[in-house]
Amino acid sequence: MNSTLLPFDVVVMAAGKGTRMKSRLPKVLQRLAGVPLVQHVLATAAQLQARSAVVITGHGAEAVEAALTSVAGQTTLRFVRQEPQLGTGHAVQQAVPALADDGLVVVLSGDVPLTQADTLQALLAASGGSRLALLTIEFADPTGYGRIVRQGDQVQAIVEQKDATDAQRQIKEVYSGIMAVPARLLKPWLARLDNHNVQGEYYLTDIVKFAVADGVEVVAHTITDALQVAGINSPVQLAELERAHQLRQAHAYMEQGVRLMDPARFDVRGQLDCGQDVEIDVNCIFEGRVSLGEGVRVGANCVIANCTIAAGAVIHPFTHIDGEKLGVTVGEGSLIGPFARLRPGAQLAAEVHIGNFVEVKNATLAKGAKANHLAYLGDATVGERVNFGAGSITANYDGANKHRTVIEADVHIGSNCVLVAPVVIGAGGTVGGGSAITKSTEPGALSVARGKQVSIANWARPQKQPKFK
Ligand code: UD1
Ligand code: CA
Repeated sequence: MNSTLLPFDVVVMAAGKGTRMKSRLPKVLQRLAGVPLVQHVLATAAQLQARSAVVITGHGAEAVEAALTSVAGQTTLRFVRQEPQLGTGHAVQQAVPALADDGLVVVLSGDVPLTQADTLQALLAASGGSRLALLTIEFADPTGYGRIVRQGDQVQAIVEQKDATDAQRQIKEVYSGIMAVPARLLKPWLARLDNHNVQGEYYLTDIVKFAVADGVEVVAHTITDALQVAGINSPVQLAELERAHQLRQAHAYMEQGVRLMDPARFDVRGQLDCGQDVEIDVNCIFEGRVSLGEGVRVGANCVIANCTIAAGAVIHPFTHIDGEKLGVTVGEGSLIGPFARLRPGAQLAAEVHIGNFVEVKNATLAKGAKANHLAYLGDATVGERVNFGAGSITANYDGANKHRTVIEADVHIGSNCVLVAPVVIGAGGTVGGGSAITKSTEPGALSVARGKQVSIANWARPQKQPKFK
């Protein structure tokens, strides 16, 4: 929460090309933990309840604007175009008409995804509505960054690498690219920028000199956590930041008590909530919103997305679950996999067993129902304690429309059956193996729909003819 008195607006610079990504996708739309880089930045702004977010687009502007339709919470999202790109100062100049005069402005970059809300909160507090506050960090190798030039303790200027003297290049404290500044001070300073420097660019960082000249206090809020200010310029950096972020998430889950077999082989690309005593084996990926109840165990190599798994369920190795928009639920104590696939609308009650090479889609399975081997249950309603045999399927699709199969409680479906929907198998009924069921069956009945077995006694198999020259 923003505890400063002034409202604040964020400006997100996202016009750069990102040449080194060598991608058709604009850099800020590359994904970290499954989410576009710039979306991480906007999420942090929303978490702090920024009044508005102004995203400056340029390269791939249309794609960026289309991808970012909204920010969570009450933050208003606006776009301004920067064309051509003449530097960071020029970028922020484009935002001026979209910025109210009464607030604090926080400048962020769309390619710096992992800045934490509490860090920005501290920066806002450092500005306090009257000062220019810079987020800084010390690097053993500061090459490429703008250096923080001080006189005594007082910040005097930021000097870019290319403009710096040899002595200035020795400075280890650098500007992170993030600042907080009152809009009423920022706007006139932006109007004074020029491009008289080695790169011929309008440097946002030159406003520090104007602040000093105008007698406005410049404060540095220094952090030590390099991940929070790390920018992405290349696929290697993206992968490195992904790993660092995932490891950090893994540690946070372990702090909560989640037992990870290997924190380096665990990926969360979305929101994962875990109850007590959850155990997760290696190489599991969680996407979208996933909730794991108390004592859930997930075996190795599972991909689990958009799903709620109740207490005590066991997901065996190599299971793929994705509820997409409809969701998937797995009931208490259910056993899923190995090699199972749960698709959107799979709703499994308690103690359901789904075994290897079984696919479930848009189907409800009541308590204790089992499909343990090689089966397809699509658009089906399956009653309590039903046993669905190996190799059996619901034929839900007639080539044009989908129909529902209803299998009432305590039904036993033999192996290799086709239930051609729409069809109802009455409670307690049995379907003989190999049946193609096209008509509904009565409760308690045995139904067999297959060719009758024929046996021909003493059948002589054809013989190979001897070959003559
Ligand atoms: C900038 C800072 C430098 C700081 C560094 C931290 C300036 C002049 N320098 O340098 O002091 O140490 O960040 O990473 O600000 N962008 C636009 N439009 C432009 C130019 C840039 O939107 O015309 C965007 C880029 O896409 C990027 C961000 O602004 O997201 C920063 O630009 P970049 O060129 O990376 O700045 P640096 O030279 O690294
Ligand atoms: Ca940069």
